[in-house]
Amino acid sequence: MEDRLYSSIGELVGHTPLVELTGFEKEHGLTARILAKLEYFEPSGSVKDRAAFWMIRAAEREGKIRKGDVILDFTSGNTGIALAAYCNALGYRFAAVLQPGVSKERTQILKAYGSIFLEFKDIPGVSEMIRSEGLNFGKFYVLLQKYADEHGYFFINQGTNQANVQAHYFGTGPEIWAATEGHVDFFTALAGTGGTIAGCGKFLKEKNPDLKVIGAQPSPTSRKDSAYPERDTIDGVTAFEGVDEDAVPHFFEEFQIHCDEVLDLDADEAYETGRDLVRSDGLFLGQSAAAAVLAARKIAERPEASGKTIVCVCADNAFKYLSTGIYREDV
Ligand SMILES: Cc1ncc(COP(=O)(O)O)c(C=O)c1O
Repeated sequence: MEDRLYSSIGELVGHTPLVELTGFEKEHGLTARILAKLEYFEPSGSVKDRAAFWMIRAAEREGKIRKGDVILDFTSGNTGIALAAYCNALGYRFAAVLQPGVSKERTQILKAYGSIFLEFKDIPGVSEMIRSEGLNFGKFYVLLQKYADEHGYFFINQGTNQANVQAHYFGTGPEIWAATEGHVDFFTALAGTGGTIAGCGKFLKEKNPDLKVIGAQPSPTSRKDSAYPERDTIDGVTAFEGVDEDAVPHFFEEFQIHCDEVLDLDADEAYETGRDLVRSDGLFLGQSAAAAVLAARKIAERPEASGKTIVCVCADNAFKYLSTGIYREDV
């Protein structure tokens, strides 16, 4: 960020620092470099500032929204918080369709931004669908679109909105390339919509076809829908390999992005990595960010990675997870 005066948080999106985790490397005796892209430096605190800002700007350019309009999406996580922030800053309102079980911190943050809150029962047809066949995402999105049309809302749909991927293809990826001066051998991240992996993966592979894109996901026992609901999970991200086809991010197919490998990560091990990083490098990372560093460590420990550079995306910091088990000893 330059030392100058800015007129809107929109001018502050991107250009987050890339920091070598020297303490962590030393503590674990790693001979590869781990570089962490610290996305909590974004104005609303996460990697999703990029997608939210780019999607709103694209909708404006395409004449799909006018000042004062309400923008709707199914999210109560980082995308919701980012959309709420940029809607307020750019003259719109945000309506969040809340995911069941959303954390206290997230609801409080969305409330603070003055977002409109919608639950499944508010969207006609959704409760009936869940009762008869469970949550069918294809049908759910059709019902959301219908609701948006009837209310004059703009359904921004982060899961299929190309501007989500463009934010990373034109932003995050080039930033990583510039900061490393092209010296990057592995790229690793977790996935929600898959926008980060698709956009960065496509850009970095175009620059260096030998670069390996390593996806990471919660292990089968660390998933919310697993047979072990009492186990810890990695919040805000989903599994996309070895699961139902409709869990594979739409963008992977659209942009022909295939991870060279996908690592299954145990949530408890990710939490431990988070606690490690507090001491080794003074970082206080969120769950998926700590998991991304764990993925980078697993790559760094391989003999073939010695002397190589691994970039991982740290989506957010720990402040939204204080009520979860990651840094608490009493839960
Ligand atoms: C905490 C966290 N980490 C990672 C991601 C992954 O982002 P993407 O949607 O680009 O896959 C998200 C997305 O919501 C997130 O909330």
